[in-house]
Amino acid sequence: MHPMLNIAVRAARNAGKVIIRSFEQLDKVEVESKGSNDFVTSVDTAAEQAIIETIRKSYPEHTIVGEESGVLTGSDDDYQWVIDPLDGTTNFIKGIPHFAVSIAIKVKGKLDQAVIFDPIRGELFTASRGKGAQLNGMRIRVQAHKELSGTVLATGFPFKHKQHTNAYMAMFGALFAKTSDMRRAGSAALDLAYVAAGRIDGFFEIGLKPWDTAAGELLVIEAGGLVSDFTGGHNHVKSGNIVASSTRLQKEVLKTIRPHLGDALSK
Ligand code: IPD
Ligand code: CA
Ligand code: CA
Repeated sequence: MHPMLNIAVRAARNAGKVIIRSFEQLDKVEVESKGSNDFVTSVDTAAEQAIIETIRKSYPEHTIVGEESGVLTGSDDDYQWVIDPLDGTTNFIKGIPHFAVSIAIKVKGKLDQAVIFDPIRGELFTASRGKGAQLNGMRIRVQAHKELSGTVLATGFPFKHKQHTNAYMAMFGALFAKTSDMRRAGSAALDLAYVAAGRIDGFFEIGLKPWDTAAGELLVIEAGGLVSDFTGGHNHVKSGNIVASSTRLQKEVLKTIRPHLGDALSK
């Protein structure tokens, strides 16, 4: 295993311990609102702290971008760690056991290493640039569907961006008419990891943040899939509008949502 991936795995497992300990005593968890339908708990902060401490021990000079801490600039900006300490906070708060730790490492702006860890199931998804993607050490690949018929897609509702509800519903409706079924499980990181593992055939969501998608993007690419914005371009990190699936299915998804994007989502 690549030495940086090794540290990322250690950091994710440390955060997982913090999360599981608190999940067993949910009544003690403090919840605060940080935006419209956007919550942060004492556990998000503690898990992020555990990750940062683990990284700092081995790579004190690297830059860290954490959802809760913002940018912690190190002396070596070529190496950037992008962290979501708890993806699926709403599930966590509600006691729904579906959430993950997501850690990606970018080298000179390019995704290089990725870990998504589901501490409930003990599932560790990892990817290294050019070396493929794994689940608990076993190679994973995206499902190579050509058509939407027979597929199951994952999505996230735009609950933090309700101004996009109508456009989203139109996109959803157009896709739903063609697919077998849809899932809204509540963790974008796990949605992407499941696309990489071939459990889900594709995923789309509006307005995600870089820490939601960084590790998942490398997993999908290394598992043989594609990640793009809603027009097939590469603006998804900036816009947060993301589609992921197999190379062939991606075309179908993009074609199906195109008529419903409007001005706001065509970037
Ligand atoms: C959220 C989850 C959710 C997605 C939201 C994200 P958080 O992340 O990934 O599935 O629909 O858009 O913000 O806030 O739980 O880290
Ligand atoms: Ca997130
Ligand atoms: Ca989070």
